[in-house]
Amino acid sequence: MNIIDIIIKKKNREVLTEAEIKYVIDGFLSGEIKDYQMSSLLMAIVLNGMTDEETINLTKYMLLSGSQINLSSLSNVVDKHSTGGVGDKTSLIIAPIVASCGCKVAKMSGRGLGYTGGTIDKLESIPGFKVNLTKEEFLKEVEEVGMAITSQTEDIALADKKIYALRDVTGTTESIPLIASSIMSKKIASGSKNLVLDIKVGEGALIKNLEDAQRLAKLMIRIGKENKMRVVALLTNMDVPLGNNIGNALEVREALDILSNKPDSNLLKLCIELSSYMVSLGLNITYEEAKAKVHEVLANNKAYEKLLEFISYQKGDINSLPESNYTYEIKSNKNGYLTQLSSLEIAKLSMHLGAGRQNKEDTIDYSAGIVLNKNLNDEVKEGDTIMTLYTNKELPEIAQEKLFTVTDKPDSSYKLIYEIIK
Ligand code: URA
Repeated sequence: MNIIDIIIKKKNREVLTEAEIKYVIDGFLSGEIKDYQMSSLLMAIVLNGMTDEETINLTKYMLLSGSQINLSSLSNVVDKHSTGGVGDKTSLIIAPIVASCGCKVAKMSGRGLGYTGGTIDKLESIPGFKVNLTKEEFLKEVEEVGMAITSQTEDIALADKKIYALRDVTGTTESIPLIASSIMSKKIASGSKNLVLDIKVGEGALIKNLEDAQRLAKLMIRIGKENKMRVVALLTNMDVPLGNNIGNALEVREALDILSNKPDSNLLKLCIELSSYMVSLGLNITYEEAKAKVHEVLANNKAYEKLLEFISYQKGDINSLPESNYTYEIKSNKNGYLTQLSSLEIAKLSMHLGAGRQNKEDTIDYSAGIVLNKNLNDEVKEGDTIMTLYTNKELPEIAQEKLFTVTDKPDSSYKLIYEIIK
């Protein structure tokens, strides 16, 4: 077999055999296939796609390239994955809810890159919080607390790690088969047989339109089935940031606030939906029964107490979250209704304030970020603060008109959840 023939085959829109896909993954990991050859093949895949069978085989060999966590000693295990969004701190809220309902959440999370944040960065903003658990520590905590979140161990889906790093610098991230195999190889390796996917759709997400999100969801569900994993996918809005806080420590504060004060918000609504599907899968009960349990652990504060228990178990000190030196307020220059909050522009600004990294080596300012003081469709007056910026840097130049829009009438077209696919 020869990598050049395989590249040419994909260039000519032909279907790769299982043996060819195995050859590519093994050869790239061993170094026999070079970065430039892999980049060329990845671009051919981005442009010409893959059949479901090719993607299932790609997932299989990426999965087999690393170790797998065995969770068979635990019952009621359920996992969740978001394809990444702006202000998306749902894992910090959902895992305690679902664990309080009697499920086990053994979650491996990643760091953020570019505009989207990562759960591990958010947790690391809590002084003392330990994000690198050994396999033994991880399983012990899941057993005792009902949940644990750790950073991805080095040896999970090794091929994905190497391929993802290459995709990141060769303009080959936006491909449905590549995204599906990347996520699913890691999720299958993490050991849960039940998975709820939150596929973000919109300008602040990897997937920009509903059709692509539907294709991705169906493909991931099919890959799950092939691997005896039950998968439910929610396609959700990422045109507008999720919740009011963007930035690591600010998002931890919001997660605590959501579970303790339960404000009427889109963030809590989405967390209730995702949690209900997780509990339904994890406990093998109906969605309605699961939703009743979710409401119960919110109302009796069990979920809030679980979040505190989890943070303290992993040695985090919630009372000393970092605070920035400077704050700036961005105000409306007219009266009307707030009909747009651009997740992409807000995410870019948040990154410039220090909350995200442009390159893998960049350090994060955990205190930096943005708090949205108004919600979509709120009535605003000239001079009202729309958002507050938190930073330790000098303020960058801000194109205020790109961040939000105030119009004469409210706009009722916003949808939080587009579709649920099982
Ligand atoms: N997240 C992943 O882990 N992989 C992708 O390809 C995209 C998002």
